Amino acid sequence: MSNGNVFISGASRGIGNSIAKYFVQNDYIVVGTSRNEFKFDVKTENLIPVKLDVTSRDDVKKCFDFLKSENLLPDILINNAGITSDQIFLRMKNEDWDNVIDTNLNGVFNLSKIFVKNMIKNKKGRIINISSISGLMGNPGQVNYSSSKSALNGFTKSLAKELGSRNITVNCIAPGFIETDMTSFLEEDAKQRIEETIPLGRLGKAEDIAKLVAFLASDEASYITGQTISIDGGLLMY
Ligand SMILES: NC(=O)c1ccc[n+]([C@@H]2O[C@H](COP(=O)([O-])OP(=O)(O)OC[C@H]3O[C@@H](n4cnc5c(N)ncnc54)[C@H](OP(=O)(O)O)[C@@H]3O)[C@@H](O)[C@H]2O)c1
Repeated sequence: MSNGNVFISGASRGIGNSIAKYFVQNDYIVVGTSRNEFKFDVKTENLIPVKLDVTSRDDVKKCFDFLKSENLLPDILINNAGITSDQIFLRMKNEDWDNVIDTNLNGVFNLSKIFVKNMIKNKKGRIINISSISGLMGNPGQVNYSSSKSALNGFTKSLAKELGSRNITVNCIAPGFIETDMTSFLEEDAKQRIEETIPLGRLGKAEDIAKLVAFLASDEASYITGQTISIDGGLLMY
């Protein structure tokens, strides 16, 4: 007997992979996606890898049809897939802008739009969007990325207002610097400088984010909706 179905975009590595492991260890059936073929390093039938590009509405529709036929439509949707394509604004190419907006923002629209109907029918659901503190505080070289992540905060609030009466919560998590492939380009001295600006003195781990996702997906968080919660070792304080 499973606790429910979870769909995670971008689950082949990093934060999404950690979230997938948490849910499968807690008896959920997890569908995890990425653009490239991948295998989960946990052996279980309850982790189902699917090759899917969140920017492709055809891919998303095919996946939806498959999940519907297998009775695997999600109760919990984690919009985690994201990319960066950093460049100072004057040098930013149209493709840098388009690819980042298409993945980080349009991808969230594509998945939420197709999966929300079933949540409305079931009168329960959780949507958790992975944003970034870059969307809250800005970051030089990330006009495209911070625009896409900032838009997720508005997306989250408006959708939360629409879906509250259907017992569906929509929240956003804004991680700070987390040790994954996305931040692996940082040289040791740059990493050290960043750590000095973080009150807790270290970069975060993917598991730190997975724990917050787990809480927001749980019954304990049933009265939290429309929020953007930072998890950044104290880097951004209002
Ligand atoms: N790491 C950080 O410091 C940090 C900070 C703030 C926010 N975040 C956010 O947290 C999320 C996860 O980041 P991460 O650090 O875990 O990144 P990561 O290690 O680079 O992993 C990204 C995941 O997304 C998948 N992906 C990328 N584009 C995709 C697409 N178009 N369709 C489907 N899957 C796609 C990747 O697989 P494929 O390449 O195979 O598609 C991979 O599984 C992102 O939204 C990111 O913006 C990260």
